[in-house]
Amino acid sequence: MAEKFYITTPIYYPSGSPHIGHCYTTVACDAVARYKRARGYDVMFLTGTDEHGQKIEDKAAAAGLSPKAYADNVVSEFKKLWTYMNISYDRFVRTTDDYHIQTVQYVFKQLYDKGYIYKGEYKGKYCKPCESFWTDSQLVDGKCPDCGRDVVEMTEEAYFFKLSAFSDRLRNLLENNDFLEPSSRVNEMVNNFIKPGLEDLCVSRTGFKWGVPVTFDDKHIVYVWIDALSNYISALGFHNDVYHDYEKYWPADIHVMAKEIVRFHALIWPAILMALDIPLPKKIYGHGWITFGDKKMSKSLGNVVDPFVLGDRYGVDALRYEILREMPFSSDCTFVSELFLQRINTDLANNLGNLVSRTVSMIQKYFDGRLPAERQPEDLDRELIILAEATPKKVEEKIDSMHLSDALAEIFNLISRANKYIDETTPWALAKDESQKTRLATVLYNLLETIRISSVLLQPFMPTTMPEVWKRIGAGEKETAWNTLYTFGGLPADAEVTGGAPLFPRINIPQELEYMAAI
Ligand code: MSP
Repeated sequence: MAEKFYITTPIYYPSGSPHIGHCYTTVACDAVARYKRARGYDVMFLTGTDEHGQKIEDKAAAAGLSPKAYADNVVSEFKKLWTYMNISYDRFVRTTDDYHIQTVQYVFKQLYDKGYIYKGEYKGKYCKPCESFWTDSQLVDGKCPDCGRDVVEMTEEAYFFKLSAFSDRLRNLLENNDFLEPSSRVNEMVNNFIKPGLEDLCVSRTGFKWGVPVTFDDKHIVYVWIDALSNYISALGFHNDVYHDYEKYWPADIHVMAKEIVRFHALIWPAILMALDIPLPKKIYGHGWITFGDKKMSKSLGNVVDPFVLGDRYGVDALRYEILREMPFSSDCTFVSELFLQRINTDLANNLGNLVSRTVSMIQKYFDGRLPAERQPEDLDRELIILAEATPKKVEEKIDSMHLSDALAEIFNLISRANKYIDETTPWALAKDESQKTRLATVLYNLLETIRISSVLLQPFMPTTMPEVWKRIGAGEKETAWNTLYTFGGLPADAEVTGGAPLFPRINIPQELEYMAAI
């Protein structure tokens, strides 16, 4: 039976239109999910929306809609974007779905019955937009440390989760495992939260209505983060009637998110699971932010870059490539239109696109589109072949450890090497000499093979363009199977090619920058 792989994105707030920041996490998870499927895993890729809370209630009221109707509209925008971006999610969870609510109510009641949730009184500073309570020491200049807005004093009767009881276990989990990556985030969690002393967490609200009611005390609704985090098991059917995959897929192999919500996933979520006495996810990965200029790009700051606009003009695969290539493993990256356009030209049009079009057109020109089967290898070929055979393993290691940008760098390193091989072997000169025909066919075959290997490796990242590449180089299902990548020579010796339009048209950068500035 195939090994399972369960990967999740955060469930997004439908409080505004999705933007490139949301695309990063979702496209990253999509690339990993596609890669795992290609390697034969039974994948569950989950995404969804986090629809409860005061912020949504307020937004809906301002729009003159019920919270559910308001959420429905934005959720359909998210779904439209994911379809547009070719996101191959297996399941989409909404926290307003009945089965999810059933799970949340079970989780809350179970924690209460086990003595991990108790009733008390909450006094503290509350940030309404972030739906977060803060202690005085966490405030920055008296304001919310996440968004910088004003906080208000609040007192209410509330239920508390005994987070403090899990301090040692959490510290042990974080410090003695690869549970949280990048490892720099471990210090952040330990120094900023565990060392100063974890406080019990307020896990119910009475100030507004839009949430999951506490079954045994219906004045209270469940704190939005307990509600939200439970999505990772509700969507598998944990104590609900709709799905039945919990046994199969839990624990998650990886929860992916940006750094600002790592503390919920690396502290609160494991503590809840420990309290419920169920297995912990294997890994939490908190990537950096896509920033735009020098601020975190987000809907509340208003500097959104619309993925539909960029995808329509430059192609969805180019956009997927850019965001994954630009984001380093452990820090932020800036979205700069000019860099995006430059990468399309250098990596996609010049490096990859040219390799494919030059190789295909030389085979058409010199061999009428079909290579003769005879070969004449030379020492010069070894370096390319050795690199091509070594690259898949390197790429696998990089993807398995979420170094997606580095994985792409490895693949493009191979593509560059192939372009250099064209310069070294000068096929146009070989073509002039009838006695060199077999050598010429060998060179062109080696190029086709390098394209085959590179394109199969790129398929999880650019799922629309790579099948087009396969059509051009005559690679079918057999030749594009992942397990054929480790050995050079997968294409038939008499490989046949088909021409086509440029895969990635070159861009006139100054002209496009003007266009972008005018949007
Ligand atoms: N609803 C919570 C998550 C609950 S998960 C149990 C939430 N929602 S959110 O809509 O604010 O989404 C935050 C997530 O969106 C980030 O953690 C990240 O995955 C993604 N991103 C949103 N803006 C981003 C950037 N500018 N850059 C990178 N990722 C960003 O928090």
